[in-house]
Amino acid sequence: MILREEKTKIKRIEELKKKKRAVIIAHNYQLDIVQEIADITGDSLELARKASKAKAETIVFCGVRFMAETSAIISPDKTVLLPVLEADCPLARMITVPQLKTLKKKHPQAGVASYVNSSAKIKAESDICCTSSNAITVVNALPHKEILFVPDKNLGRYVSAYTAKKVILCKGFCPTHALLKASEIVKVKKDHPRAEFIAHPECVPEVLALADYVCSTAGMFKYARETKVKELIIGTEGGMLYPLRKENPDKKFYLASPVLICPNMKLITLDKIIEALEEGKYQIKVEESIRKPAYEALQRMLEVS
Ligand code: 13P
Repeated sequence: MILREEKTKIKRIEELKKKKRAVIIAHNYQLDIVQEIADITGDSLELARKASKAKAETIVFCGVRFMAETSAIISPDKTVLLPVLEADCPLARMITVPQLKTLKKKHPQAGVASYVNSSAKIKAESDICCTSSNAITVVNALPHKEILFVPDKNLGRYVSAYTAKKVILCKGFCPTHALLKASEIVKVKKDHPRAEFIAHPECVPEVLALADYVCSTAGMFKYARETKVKELIIGTEGGMLYPLRKENPDKKFYLASPVLICPNMKLITLDKIIEALEEGKYQIKVEESIRKPAYEALQRMLEVS
């Protein structure tokens, strides 16, 4: 339900959107109200695709910094705004360019696949990018027999089970997904014996081992829509529950654990979106010498997925 004070803010956002020829894009982990007012929602891959096609001069990106950066890489002709500069993804900071260069030296034969949850500079140093929904396809599409997969070790390990290639992992992980423990899944499954458990590949391997299905956030929508099962335990960030319940009113969804809340994703509010549109902040720009090679790595991903 939309509250009265929210209605006033939404009206202001609509006015500003028209004035600035802006489009609001929100990731599936955003606050319910932000997803509600967004023009486009989706997983990282869908957002990368749709943002580039959006007929707008300004993109207000409601997500974390790497997502807005990806949008700026793909659409250099558009103004990309991230309403809260501190909305950052800790996983994306878990590999630096010097660390990647050292790994490349150590594994000179390996192709580099970087998860989109990485900085523009890391993308620029990569052969190809991937998201959680296309990581297996991307790794298998590379001609290399060895793949240096950065920065998420959990997604990388998951991918390694679906390829004959040698996947070299590094140490990154999502601090929110990593909080989910296998013991919690055992308990929640006992509490809801008819429910299936679907998990994001950023979860730790012990949790993934208990999953009935592993997929990206977009994959979860598809699965929820198509399965005959009426109850689902969701192993990813809690923002997913609002759209899943909205789309499937006949089904029940349980968050696998209350710990699954990303503090960064929740920083963007209606007030922050108004400020972003009024003041044109915070513009995310990527220097051309980085943008070009990062764009090529993203483009290769879009071509194979
Ligand atoms: P998706 O691509 O599945 O939406 O995941 C993005 C993400 O950042 C997960 O933590």
